[in-house]
Amino acid sequence: SQSPVIAPSILSADFARLADEISAISGVADWVHVDVMDNHFVPNLTIGQPVVAALRKATSLPFDCHLMITDPQRWAVGYAEAGAEIVTFHAEACDDPVALARDLRAAGARPGLAIDRDTAVEPYLDLLPEFDLLLIMTIKAGFGGQEFIPELLAKVRSARRHINAGHLDLRLEVDGGINADTIEAAAQAGADAFVAGSAVYGAADPAAAVRRLRELAQY
Ligand code: DX5
Ligand code: ZN
Repeated sequence: SQSPVIAPSILSADFARLADEISAISGVADWVHVDVMDNHFVPNLTIGQPVVAALRKATSLPFDCHLMITDPQRWAVGYAEAGAEIVTFHAEACDDPVALARDLRAAGARPGLAIDRDTAVEPYLDLLPEFDLLLIMTIKAGFGGQEFIPELLAKVRSARRHINAGHLDLRLEVDGGINADTIEAAAQAGADAFVAGSAVYGAADPAAAVRRLRELAQY
């Protein structure tokens, strides 16, 4: 697969200093992962479209916007308009993922589809040609700092087989509990994009943590 993408999640950054926290990983990280939660799809409330638009002016790193929200048909295109390069919504929250993927593409973003802990990936594999990214949660969505669930890598293996067999041009991203102890297993399962929140922003040197994760992802 392609060289790994490392996407630090600013969910674990200091919210009072978001622009500085992004500067700390620019030059070493590939994308900035932005966790949008609406206190409805998940029981947590984080950041929204005005903050994405404000941060867009503070960095040139691509934004990997992970929408953990109800009714993404109503809101997702607004994140593309706010400047997110990748806009990922949850399969569980959307009854017509292909239509929304096309709307996002028309708005200039790269669409992503996310699969939460309790959702099977198989029903969505045939939709993947419409997407640029498939996000497989390796925890239950909602909070940073949770423990990686290794059993969920079965979904990554299954998706990787399907992607390779179909020669699909698609990033396979894992999110949740990714750190120096777990990233190799995720890479071996076939992931080629890695979100890391606490492993990066909980480290004394976030840039060094990103470099270390990248080494380990190139198993
Ligand atoms: C949780 C978010 C994750 C979170 C990951 O629902 O989607 O992106 O920030 O945090 P860690 O890496 O600490 O599990
Ligand atoms: Zn996320």
